Amino acid sequence: MVAAPLFACEGIGLSLGGRQILDDVSVHVAPREILGIIGPNGAGKTSLFEVLSGRRRPQRGRVLYDGADVTRLSIQKRAHRGIARTYQSPVVPNSLSVTEVLKAARQATTPWLTRHHAEWACALVGLRVDHDTPSGALETLNRRKLLLACLLMRRPRVMLLDEPAAGLINSEVDEIDTIVRMLAKELGMAVMIVEHRLELLAAIADRIAVLDVGRKIAEGEPEHVFDDPRVRAAYFDNEEAETTP
Ligand SMILES: Nc1ncnc2c1ncn2[C@@H]1O[C@H](COP(=O)(O)OP(=O)(O)OP(=O)(O)O)[C@@H](O)[C@H]1O
Ligand SMILES: [Mg+2]
Repeated sequence: MVAAPLFACEGIGLSLGGRQILDDVSVHVAPREILGIIGPNGAGKTSLFEVLSGRRRPQRGRVLYDGADVTRLSIQKRAHRGIARTYQSPVVPNSLSVTEVLKAARQATTPWLTRHHAEWACALVGLRVDHDTPSGALETLNRRKLLLACLLMRRPRVMLLDEPAAGLINSEVDEIDTIVRMLAKELGMAVMIVEHRLELLAAIADRIAVLDVGRKIAEGEPEHVFDDPRVRAAYFDNEEAETTP
């Protein structure tokens, strides 16, 4: 049985520049659960993460975390309370070495942590590179691992992953599969993952929510969602055939 939701939003409405970007969107996720979020380009997936993480304040609705309304809480306070988020592009401070990036992440957010915590986090995500390497020289997968390690040191309870498999080859996607399962099923995090690689979500997601032009049009177990005619019309008909699971 799935536990009660740890993290949720209800009736989110977001307008930007006079345009309605999100309209009455509600999603939830429980500890150990993986919620996949899909939808065509521009559907509002990243915008939803902006609201959930605290980067943008919605005009309507609320964000709930661990029984509290955090809608008005800053991104920093949400991060401190245990809500972590990755971005579509794995941007790293190019000139800083891996060691320096991990240290800067510790000092910025959790100065009591030591380099042992950083090593623990790197081992968890399987970041096996020379830590003197400039982070700008890392391949995409290792950049993503480094940024994840920076977040994991804080032991978040909620992880929001925005397209963690973008730009990766299939064998690398398998590593993302393993990492995301580990976050949820071993570390017990509540995970929301936005992804266009539907074969990844078909394998790891417990539930999938589908956004289309800012509205949630379907939600359920992956096989039911992928078969839903509304989802096929809104999503698959516009996608390359190869992304269909
Ligand atoms: N700052 C902004 N001002 C106005 N419109 C914006 C802004 N940011 C995003 N949008 C618009 O909001 C809509 C949703 O964008 P969003 O980035 O959330 O989509 P997405 O589902 O993440 O797409 P993708 O799959 O391409 O990453 C798009 O039409 C986008 O152009
Ligand atoms: Mg996006």
